[in-house]
Amino acid sequence: MNILVIGSGGREHAIISSFSNSNKCSKVYALPGNAGTELLAENIKGDVNDFELIKKVTLEHKISLVFVGPEDPIVNGIYDFFKSNIELKDVNIIAPSKQAGLLEGSKDFAKDFMKKYSIPTAKHKTFSIKNINEADSFLESMNPPYVLKADGLAAGKGVLILKDLEDAKLELRNMILDRKFGKSSTKVVIEEFLDGIELSCFILTDGKNYKVLPFAKDYKKIGEGDKGLNTGGMGAISPVPFLSNKFLAKIQNKIIKPTITGIMKEKMKYNGFIFIGLIQVEDEPYVIEYNVRMGDPETEVVFPRLKNDLVELFNSMGTSKFKSVKLKISDKHAATVILVSGGYPQSYNKGKTIDGLNNLSEVLVFHAGTKKKNDSIITSGGRVLAITSLANSFELALENSYDQINKIKFDGMNYRKDIGFDLL
Ligand code: AMP
Ligand code: GLY
Repeated sequence: MNILVIGSGGREHAIISSFSNSNKCSKVYALPGNAGTELLAENIKGDVNDFELIKKVTLEHKISLVFVGPEDPIVNGIYDFFKSNIELKDVNIIAPSKQAGLLEGSKDFAKDFMKKYSIPTAKHKTFSIKNINEADSFLESMNPPYVLKADGLAAGKGVLILKDLEDAKLELRNMILDRKFGKSSTKVVIEEFLDGIELSCFILTDGKNYKVLPFAKDYKKIGEGDKGLNTGGMGAISPVPFLSNKFLAKIQNKIIKPTITGIMKEKMKYNGFIFIGLIQVEDEPYVIEYNVRMGDPETEVVFPRLKNDLVELFNSMGTSKFKSVKLKISDKHAATVILVSGGYPQSYNKGKTIDGLNNLSEVLVFHAGTKKKNDSIITSGGRVLAITSLANSFELALENSYDQINKIKFDGMNYRKDIGFDLL
């Protein structure tokens, strides 16, 4: 079977690696892919939102399974595009519908959904130009810090956490009136700050039955000790050592089951992943956000632990088989460390030659912002490489990744040396 993977990050390289382990997989194409996916798949140039091109590629290469990595094409309706097209409707596309995509594409929609299905989350109110006059008194009624979220997609940058009330009032105006995040901040969700430890939960569902994948913890801040600006993710580990069976049962009962019930009751078409960003406050789980895709860099620690044949697993979705499939999860602990370009998440240079990739042992190297240039591999993005190890503990896995990272070099290379620091 021929497979198409949409996207170009570490997540897509990790997924393609898992597909390559399936004997049901004949050929994989990546659109657009990176220098790492090129080792396992054929890269096809193009934009992830160019649905006509994706259609052409799907038909030309007789693709039967499409895996959609990033949120943009999902929120833009790639699932509906396939299902409403006579030539594409039988292709198994791993992505939820546009309606379900709103769980990630609109924070306001997600908050209403959680309220309707009694799913624990921070208290909130949504503001737009219509009710902006009421925002000051709402902010005054809350305790600092103040959490302001752009309603729409903002590439992980749309959340502001502010200590000062006057700053919060000002930023709210910047977001709504001055469109700080473009169209994404015409509506802004203001919510209660939750103080706790975050973890990432992943569900694979066909909208009826579901499987809970291994949990992971991701490190979003650029600086050690979780300081500084938010990034797409600087490292991750799986499993999550503090996740007890008792807490898992609470997540199942209070969050996962009602989420699936909500999806069914709202008649959302779903054929993919729900990534629930959770926070543990005292002994209770709350939803910070929904995403309608896998996480990155979490995929780089979750998928190396998943031993099922990925083609079989995805092709069982929507059939009676899916319910009885058992996930085979490795007992090993996985850790990944992300190597980034100097300056990221702000401006950074591209085109730096990466050395040392051929001398690594016992690590999985997933490429993100990389490109081939003649015989070299050069940087082409902020997050450049994910260096994953598997071992009997996350400490040992990290030790191995850090050890091997010493052999890799590019101009301006930066990474966090303290992934997992809060769990020791
Ligand atoms: P989001 O894009 O909604 O995941 O938010 C990005 C990050 O902001 C989260 O990973 C949290 O670290 C933080 N955050 C978001 N909402 C809250 C909240 N209500 N309380 C505390 N931290 C939050
Ligand atoms: N690692 C967070 C995300 O993928 O959104």
